[in-house]
Amino acid sequence: MLNNSKKNHLKDTNISKIWETIYQKNSWGRYPSEELVRFIARNFYEKKNHANIKFLDLGCGGGSSSLFLSQEGFSVHGIDSSKTAVKKTKLLLKKHNLSGKFQVMDFSELNFLDNTFNCIIDICSLQHNKPTEIAKILHLLKIFLKPDGKFFSIIVGKGTKSELFMNKGFIHYYTKNEIKKLYKQFKIISIEKLIRTENNCKDTIYHWVVHCENKK
Ligand SMILES: C[S@@+](CC[C@H](N)C(=O)[O-])C[C@H]1O[C@@H](n2cnc3c(N)ncnc32)[C@H](O)[C@@H]1O
Repeated sequence: MLNNSKKNHLKDTNISKIWETIYQKNSWGRYPSEELVRFIARNFYEKKNHANIKFLDLGCGGGSSSLFLSQEGFSVHGIDSSKTAVKKTKLLLKKHNLSGKFQVMDFSELNFLDNTFNCIIDICSLQHNKPTEIAKILHLLKIFLKPDGKFFSIIVGKGTKSELFMNKGFIHYYTKNEIKKLYKQFKIISIEKLIRTENNCKDTIYHWVVHCENKK
């Protein structure tokens, strides 16, 4: 657990305002990413006692990933700076008679017991923070991840049509080398590239799918 003096003061109130407005107007992401499903299937399905395996859903949004993890029997803690997002996640799980812990929390305020989580997932959430801030957030995440814990991230890549991300706050489009540097605090197991198009093949979106392990 971090004491106050150790906390990073990175809070960007802009991020929470932008996303709060988005969640008040739209339903965002009702189904989990296929990449997340594949990662979980390959790394966690065979494990015993799913209820004892703890996940942190970083930027849980409308709850699609948390719902999937909870349906698979894992223990889920989701955080997001948007009040409406957290409310939607809680309602979604309740509707499916599932439970988890969901809190309004900015990534700058992360505060859990050391070695709490078996896995931390970031589905396109960190990407809305400045790279210097992400590095500080990752430093904290390492502390909360178990020594053999995993970190899974999907983050936007360079070449993506930036107009598609208008009005979504700060975003940086990463090259593969930048990803390697950004996640260097972890042991990188794999970096895969995901490419899709929108607007009848006119606009391309690139994502990096990053699988890491803790190195302590
Ligand atoms: C693109 S959405 C993705 C939501 C969800 N992971 C999904 O896959 O549907 C980005 C999310 O990250 C959250 N977020 C971004 N930066 C944050 C920060 N510094 N603290 C807390 N939440 C943050 C936003 O509120 C938003 O819910």
